[in-house]
Order: sequence, then structure tokens, then C-alpha cells
Amino acid sequence: MTSSITIRRPDDWHLHLRDGDMLRAVLPATTQHFARAIIMPNLVSPVVTSAQAVAYRDRILAALPEGATFEPLMTLYLTEASDPNDIAAAHASGLIKAVKLYPAGATTNSASGVSHFDRVAPVLERMAEIGLPLCVHGEVTDHDIDIFDREAVFIDRVLDPIRRATPGLRVIMEHITTKNAVDYARAQDDTLGATITTHHLVINRNHILAGGIKPHYYCLPVAKREEHRLALRDAATSGEARFFLGTDSAPHTDANKLLPCGCAGCFTAPNTLSILAQAFEDDGKLENLEGFTSLHGPAFYGLPVNTDTITMIKGAPTTYPSHIDTPDGPVTVFDPGYDLNWSVT
Ligand code: NCD
Ligand code: ZN
Repeated sequence: MTSSITIRRPDDWHLHLRDGDMLRAVLPATTQHFARAIIMPNLVSPVVTSAQAVAYRDRILAALPEGATFEPLMTLYLTEASDPNDIAAAHASGLIKAVKLYPAGATTNSASGVSHFDRVAPVLERMAEIGLPLCVHGEVTDHDIDIFDREAVFIDRVLDPIRRATPGLRVIMEHITTKNAVDYARAQDDTLGATITTHHLVINRNHILAGGIKPHYYCLPVAKREEHRLALRDAATSGEARFFLGTDSAPHTDANKLLPCGCAGCFTAPNTLSILAQAFEDDGKLENLEGFTSLHGPAFYGLPVNTDTITMIKGAPTTYPSHIDTPDGPVTVFDPGYDLNWSVT
């Protein structure tokens, strides 16, 4: 029985850090375990220009806990008015590592996202030329499409056409939630990667809706049927290089989660690695944990892997806070619904 595992220090390829007090409150949960993270640009006023990305990066660095070494990998939020030259310059200078595509209205702070995908074609062509990856929130927003079908429909109607029209564009299907997405990713060449969250490996839609509604399990894309969760588990633990960790840790205060119209997002940064180690062990794939958390992401982004390591041990139940305090109120930490027994030493 394995009781200890040492892996390269992980990175998080999809993370929401927010800003101001919330940023300062949640950042330590990530920096205690992760070396780098792709920082989502969906602030209340989104990070659209390189000047905004510089300022946001500086605010993150200023909020780092004492002694933390953490590199925020910045992204720009794609709008129909995004300037290809500004984006190319931000990439050339090393400021940004990706551009983020939100379909307008798909999720939190996505109102300035894209409605007409043909209008961003010139930017995408430029990105393909310069090798700048596109992170995609893959859900259509049409009201006549059932919310549980929005990812699968997006693949057919938006993602695949974009990929065919823009050869060479490096695309990350983010936080995939369906077997359809797993199958699509597996059928593509190595210009396509896919991130999988921690919580989508653990919950299905029953966790949200059966026996009472559980707002802390509500996130977007929403968790699907069990067969889809199992497909995600299979993909994440498979050792295939196209699949890597993007936690999508997305803190909202409890006050904003527990509303008649509550916010979407699960806050998983504090216990993600414990949950993952247990999931990989349960599936008999602990040897593939390091690839998922620490090797496949850097390979896709063309970045070096981290040189330092973390060690996790299996033992007494792992302790982690049930919530973290912020000046705006508590933020509940994702509860997998069972005891965890892997801890980062
Ligand atoms: C994210 C957020 O709160 O910013 N919410 C979520 O449910 N995942 C946005 C997103 O990634 O969709
Ligand atoms: Zn997200």
C-alpha cells in the first residue's frame, strides 16, 4: 500500500483569484501548493488590455504571502473589440500566456464576451500564427438549449468550426464536463488540450439537486450525469498528455452563493491536491497523478516543468478549513462529502 508520493510541484491551469480583499484572502490557498496558475481575467471590470493585465499581475504579486514563490500566468479576456496588435505585443513581451474566450453571458462576469464568433476570427488567426493558446469556456448560451447540453452543442456549433477555420490554433477546452468533450479531445491532434476540475471528478448532478439543493456544488459548466463524471475520471487518470488540471477554483462569498439567484463556482484551492490524490488512488492510477497536476500542462504551454517537488502522505484524516474568512464574509471550501486522507507535507 502506497503511503507517500513525491511529485513535481503542481500548477493550476485555470484559476480565479478575484481582486482586492478577496484576492488577499484566497491567494495563500493556491500558493501553499502550486507554483504557477493561469489567471482568469473575468474581473468585474475584465482584463482586456495588456495595461490591465500588467496592473492585475502587479496586484497579485503585491498580495503574495511572505516568502511565497508563485508565478501568475496572465491571460487577456477576448472581446469583439480586442486589438490583435495589443494581444500579439502582450504575448511577445511574455506578459500573457493565453487569451480567454467567454461566450457572452455564459458565466460569471462574461457580459463583455463574444456573441459573434466570426468577429474574433482575425485575432484567432493572429494567435495561431504566433502560437498563443486560446482558453475556451465551451458552452453555448442559447436559451432554447438545455443547460445540460450546452457543452456538447458548443463543440459542434462553435468549437469545431473555429478549429477548422483556424488551423494551428492551440486551444484548451476548459473545465470539460462531458463524455462528449472527452471523446472530442481524444480525436484531435496535439494542438488541442483539455483541463478538468477537481470538483467535476467528484460530483455529478445528483450532488447538486437530489435531497435538497446544494448551492456550494453549483458551478459552470454545471456537473452532468454520472456517466460523464466517470468519463472525466477516466480521462484525468489516463496519463494522456492532452488532459491536465485546471481547478477552476472560483471563490464567492457564502452570501453570494446562498441567494435566490446564487453565483456559480466551487472554491477548491485549499483541498484540491488531497481530493485528487485520493481519486487517483481509488482508481488505481496514483502513478498518473504527477502527469495530470505537474507535467502535461507545462508541456502544452511550452513551459518548463517545476524543478521542486511536493510530498503527500496518506494517514489520519486530512484537515482543511471548512471556510476562509474574508472582509466580505466567509467563503466555503468545497466539501467532497467524504473524509480525505492524503495531505501535502
Ligand atoms: C467561474 C467564476 O465564478 O468566475 N464560475 C464557475 O462556476 N466556474 C466562472 C467560470 O469559470 O465559468
Ligand atoms: Zn473558471
